[in-house]
Amino acid sequence: MSLKARDALLSCLAGVDWPFGPLLALLDLAPGADVLDVGTGDGRLLARLREQGHQGQGVGLDPQPGQGSLAGRAEALPFPDASFDAVLLVRVLAHLADPAAALAEARRVLRPRGRLIVAAHGPDHLRATWRALGQAEPMATPASNARHLRLPVTVTAEAARALAASYGLSGQASGFPVEDTLHLTVEDETTGGRER
Ligand SMILES: C[S@@+](CC[C@H](N)C(=O)[O-])C[C@H]1O[C@@H](n2cnc3c(N)ncnc32)[C@H](O)[C@@H]1O
Repeated sequence: MSLKARDALLSCLAGVDWPFGPLLALLDLAPGADVLDVGTGDGRLLARLREQGHQGQGVGLDPQPGQGSLAGRAEALPFPDASFDAVLLVRVLAHLADPAAALAEARRVLRPRGRLIVAAHGPDHLRATWRALGQAEPMATPASNARHLRLPVTVTAEAARALAASYGLSGQASGFPVEDTLHLTVEDETTGGRER
């Protein structure tokens, strides 16, 4: 199951457009902000932002770019200093060999008082589902000053099997439906000026 298909299933279970609808609502980006989405994947976050009538530039970058995105790597962004008002790294940092280099690059291309936004799935994600499947719980340490998006979901046995398989897991499912919580951790840092 692709990330897109997994998100679609979770959106269905949660009754919201997971994760970009709640994430963009939380971020409340300025309508004219120039936004760089690093590790944009299929560019769904920027597409969603455009649908909302965003007026600023929206640039997506990925080593394997989809249509409308640029080829490039987080560790060496092909942009001059101070090019964007917001840089997003959504579900990307954990995939990088050198996350510190990516963060330094993101800060370099931000304008003064620009926003560096890092979002990742947090520790609550599907915790109850793994437990019901008899799997060890995922290890994660939440950041202390992060904001946490938490959305309740009811996971059916069928959905749990599909989700577990998408992570390469299998197990004896019992005790469904499970009341669970989708969890996105969001770090939002403002550079060179006051914090939001
Ligand atoms: C889990 S996906 C997340 C995609 C998208 N941000 C989302 O939330 O749907 C991780 C993405 O990171 C990209 N990626 C991997 N290595 C990268 C690198 N060095 N620089 C930028 N992106 C990278 C992958 O190609 C993939 O699109």
